[in-house]
Order: sequence, then structure tokens, then C-alpha cells
Amino acid sequence: MNASQLANQLPGYEPTNNKPTENPSIMTRATITGLGTARGHKVITNHDLAQTLDTSNEWIVERTGIHERRIGGSCLELSTQAARTALEQAQVPPADLNLIICSTCTPDQVFPAVSNRIQHELGANCGAFDLNAACSGFTYAVSIAEAQIAAGMNKVLVIGVDTLSRFTDWNDRTTAVLFGDGAGAVVVEKTQNPDKGILSTYLGSEGRFADLLSCDFGNYLQMDGKEVFRQAVRVMVSASQKVLAEAGLTSADVDVVVPHQANVRIIESAMKRLQIPLEKAATVLATTGNTSSASIPLAMGAAITDGFISDNKLVLLVGFGAGMSVAAALIRWGQ
Ligand code: UT7
Repeated sequence: MNASQLANQLPGYEPTNNKPTENPSIMTRATITGLGTARGHKVITNHDLAQTLDTSNEWIVERTGIHERRIGGSCLELSTQAARTALEQAQVPPADLNLIICSTCTPDQVFPAVSNRIQHELGANCGAFDLNAACSGFTYAVSIAEAQIAAGMNKVLVIGVDTLSRFTDWNDRTTAVLFGDGAGAVVVEKTQNPDKGILSTYLGSEGRFADLLSCDFGNYLQMDGKEVFRQAVRVMVSASQKVLAEAGLTSADVDVVVPHQANVRIIESAMKRLQIPLEKAATVLATTGNTSSASIPLAMGAAITDGFISDNKLVLLVGFGAGMSVAAALIRWGQ
């Protein structure tokens, strides 16, 4: 009897679904086949904030582009809701998943990982882990899913979720106006179509800027907003250029940019430097605020609903965040 036969006989042993089912093929690509989102249930408008803070709707809209944000719900609740929709859309039963990656910097507990509880809630039987790359985390997770599919997996669930409202000082006008809670999930699957799917990814970290935006245990987040703004534009542009160059494409080829939703002025500056018309940027932050890991899938979801992202479009995801982390992915949309 070999080790795996022996393990199968152990009481309570359930083999996980994480083994590659076929040999990796160099023609294999990973593509997004389903997407779901969830937002915090409580709406907080700029006018609400102006009741308790020395701020105004005009200042917030002009300096950030945010009109309202939604807060509330745990990472587990928001993630599970988003994941169920994504799996339904992809027509993938949870039992078929090979891996769950949950990107979050605000997990419900120090441990276990949120992804373990998500796996149980969904009834999946596969490996699961959390990843913290702050607001770049969703794109980091997409890149890892793509690599796992190149290595032989078939179906990976990627979730971006954050509940920054729990780490925000609601008496501090310099941060309270910015953040919201939410989740977005995508199913990443193997496709044999060499023209579709994730074409290139880039992951970066500039740890010398780690103190620009941070949150210590038991404290609220703190940031140097002006400097984050400056560095964010720079790293977004360079990460975008890297994924385009790797795919042998240029900014003129891009149909839709899905940037991290932190501040509309950051998006405007990055688009200008990339020489991509602002109309090609997918934005959702007017009604969500900055939802960290969830911001890119929330914006992607809205762009799909609006018909802005559709078959064959060249979609550029680009995120930045605390760390300073940065990540980009170039996707030829479709299956
Ligand atoms: O996921 C990444 C997360 N972080 C970010 O993306 C942050 C990036 N940075 C930003 O988005 C912008 O820097 C902020 C929105 C945070 C601030 O905008 P800004 O144009 O850089 O404003 P500022 O910090 O230069 O402040 C201008 C003025 C200051 O007053 P004084 O010193 O000129 O008298 C601030 O005290 O605006 C004041 N101010 C406000 N006034 C009304 C700061 N926050 C507020 C507020 N309401 N909420």
C-alpha cells in the first residue's frame, strides 16, 4: 500500500482538489470566466460626514471624486456573497475549485485566514490562503492564479475584500472621507484559446515608502496623502508600461483601464502620463470610496454591466497601495 492509499483509509481523511488534472501545456492561458461583487450595506454620504467633521461635500468631490461610500459587513460575509455570484456566473460548482486566494489587509481575525472560512462556507474542497499586498492585492492574486493555472490547475477563485472602515478614525477628516468596505471575486479558469485571457502581469514593491501609509495593531491607519498621491501615479504608469511591453503592445492598444479606485485625480494623472484618454478608465469610486483590495473587481464589475468591458477588449488592471506595492495585469477579455 502506498502513502496515498494509506491516507485514503484514515478516518475523516478527505483528499483535497488541488492536484493538476493534466500536464501543464505551454499553450494554456488563464482567463476570467465569472465575476461577483458585494458592498457594505450602510451608505454614508459626504453630507453625512460633513455633520460631524470639518469638511464639505464640495471639498470631498473636488479633491477625490467620491460622493458616498458603503460600510459594514465582515470580510467573510462580503467575500462569500461576491464569490457565490462569481461561481454562478462561471457555472463552476465550488467542489470543482482547485484553489481559493483571498486578498485582504483587514482580515476578520489574525488567523485563521478568511479564505479558510470562505472555503467552508462555499463547500469547496481545495487549498485556501490569504494574501496581503494592500490595495494591490487583488491584482497580485490574479497573477498567482494565472501562474497556478500555467502549472496545471484548472479553476482558481480570487477574492479581493477589505473592511477599512474598522481601521479608520472617523474623527480624522484627512482619512475618513476616503474609505469604504466591499468585496469582488473572480473565477480564473484555464482556456485553450491562445488569443484570450491574461497576457502579462507585473508585481512590484518599493518598501522604502512603507511608512507613507500604514496601520499598527490596535491603531487607525495613517498616511501621508500627498506623497502617496505622487508615488502612486509614478508606479501605476511604470507598472502599466511593463505589462504592455511584455505583451508586445502599447498604450494605444488598450481599450479599458481598471485602476485602483483611490482618488479620481490620481486616475486622471496616470491616464494622462500613459497617454490613454480618460474615457477609457473604468471608475466606481464615486459611490464606493476606496475599498482597497475590492476596488479593482468592483470597477471591473460595473464596467462589464455597462458593456464597457466585453469580448476581445484589451483590459489593463493596475493597482497600488501600502508597501508601497504595485501590480498590473493585461487581459484580452473573453474565453
Ligand atoms: O489606497 C491608497 C490610499 N491612499 C490614497 O490614495 C491617498 C492619496 N492622496 C489623496 O488622495 C489626496 O492627497 C487627499 C485626498 C488625501 C488629500 O488631497 P490633497 O489635494 O492632497 O489635499 P492636502 O492634503 O494638500 O490638503 C489641502 C487642504 C489642507 O488644508 P490647508 O493646510 O491648506 O489649510 C487640509 O488640511 O485641505 C485640508 N483638508 C480638508 N479640508 C476639508 C484635508 N482633508 C480635508 C477634508 N475636508 N476632508
